Amino acid sequence: MAFPDTFLDELAARTDIVELISRYVTLKRRGGSMIGLCPFHSEKTPSFTVSPDKQAFHCFGCGEGGYAVQFAQKIENLDYVDAVRFLAERAGMRLPEYSDDPAERRLRERLYLLHTEAARFYHGNLMSGENPYALEYLTRRGVAARTIRVFGLGVCAPGVDSLVRAMTALGFTKEELIAGNLAVAGGRGDIVDRFKNRLMFPIISVQKKVIAFGGRLTGDGQPKYLNSSDTPIFAKGRQLFALNLAKSSKQKGLLLAEGYMDVIALHQAGFDNAVASLGTALTDKQAELIRKYSGGEVTITYDSDAAGRAASERAAALLNKADVKVSVLSLDGAKDPDDFLQLYGAAALRLRLEERESHMSHKLAQLAAEVDIQSDDGRVEFLKKAAAVLAGVNNEVEREIYTARAAAIADVTKEAVALEVGRLNAGTRRKAQFREQRDSARIGGRESKAMRAETEFIRLAIDDPELARTVAAELRPVDFETGFLGEAWARILSGTQSNLSMSQFFTEEQTRYMSKALVRPKSPEQIEKALGDCLDTIIQESAIRASDSPEITRAMLGAKKKKRYGEKE
Ligand code: CTP
Ligand code: MN
Repeated sequence: MAFPDTFLDELAARTDIVELISRYVTLKRRGGSMIGLCPFHSEKTPSFTVSPDKQAFHCFGCGEGGYAVQFAQKIENLDYVDAVRFLAERAGMRLPEYSDDPAERRLRERLYLLHTEAARFYHGNLMSGENPYALEYLTRRGVAARTIRVFGLGVCAPGVDSLVRAMTALGFTKEELIAGNLAVAGGRGDIVDRFKNRLMFPIISVQKKVIAFGGRLTGDGQPKYLNSSDTPIFAKGRQLFALNLAKSSKQKGLLLAEGYMDVIALHQAGFDNAVASLGTALTDKQAELIRKYSGGEVTITYDSDAAGRAASERAAALLNKADVKVSVLSLDGAKDPDDFLQLYGAAALRLRLEERESHMSHKLAQLAAEVDIQSDDGRVEFLKKAAAVLAGVNNEVEREIYTARAAAIADVTKEAVALEVGRLNAGTRRKAQFREQRDSARIGGRESKAMRAETEFIRLAIDDPELARTVAAELRPVDFETGFLGEAWARILSGTQSNLSMSQFFTEEQTRYMSKALVRPKSPEQIEKALGDCLDTIIQESAIRASDSPEITRAMLGAKKKKRYGEKE
């Protein structure tokens, strides 16, 4: 069975591998690691290594390794599911299918109530006029009084514990405030507000319950937005901002934007079918949610900068896979939808919306423009690329339509294109099998330059997924030479938080390989730079593999790199 990522992430957060292993093995600190005698083979000098940072273990003697789940499996002789159950019990968690525990249900009920009261409190703070700067800020950004009401916007005061005091007066406990991520431990055993001096955006579920908050600074400072972490009533990868409103919109399909303010501006301008993902790249769960509530059609309207375009490509691919028909709205001339509406108004956006192109036809036109479509070579080139794109479309009707379109552009029969698409699909399956075998051979053999960089990259990305997603926005899973490391990246991109959820679908061999890499070296100080270096290598090696003359490409890339670092040629 597969566990929800959020469940495994929570389990990872509540499990300490050092504490777990210490019950079976005497561990001593050495540098950043803990070492001891391996419980899985007999040895006199310790080669069994545990990394507290990476929450992984590896024995350099017998090669055994993995994460908390694998340790529990081996030491207690359990299968994967039972090992997860074993750890969940220790952590005081119920397996998802049993989580109907009365105590947990009661906590969830309390948290719903707490969030409703907190939203009321924040909204009251905004309307009372005690914090005039917040209202002024919203007015300056063109948010109308009615919109403030519809979205239940609010403000939290600059004090350290205004919410804590107000909620405590209503009978909520410290534990509840912390479980809801509305307060955090302060000094001397007391608790303080998590959100301070921010404009508050309540996040409301389709059941119309307030389940979390996003908070924006009205001035400069970092971070610009602070969001609720996952709690027993909130998993950010499974919610969309404003879906509670958009789901009853009369307009066709959904509009998908990046930011809270974009959605608010869109609703105010009459586009009440707008939603946003919550401060992370779109996840597959959110794609499913979109399919369910959009009637199968979505228009992406992300920021028009490079990062926005890359995110939009990725979201489109994910939505295509979820069988949602995707169009992309061009916001040329503006930064984001909010900005567009300020500059050009609702009528202009409505016009753009009518002229918008489906993602597929946009893509096909783009491919055609890249070649000389009049020449035979150009048409062959176009068809090869078009077939690859079409092979990624899951919806048969859509695939059929655009297969015909591609055929028309290249002036060949529809059947010829369909044949190529079918061949590619079969090829993809064969390739996947081949890749798994090849990965397995690689794990045993000498690591290539690409694999070393990929391993290091994933290691760093586990440390700081948010940063990795930013630094490597353009990195695609297919750029990886090693298939399962590419899959790990795909899972990190879609919001995976912990090594437990990342490795859920790895083979044992793959998990051992990864945990070995994790326990070994220390993380560099400059994680952002290190990520960037790995990224460069991965992209370069991928270009070399894709090139017709690898040696020449390698030489050219080498030359370029030298130049960049100012070395002599
Ligand atoms: N976001 C976040 N944390 C940050 C920055 C952004 O969670 N530190 C999320 C928020 O949901 C935000 C969205 O990413 O709404 C888009 O970010 P950005 O484009 O920077 O902000 P805008 O929505 O355009 O906000 P504003 O117009 O108020 O600057
Ligand atoms: Mn904006």
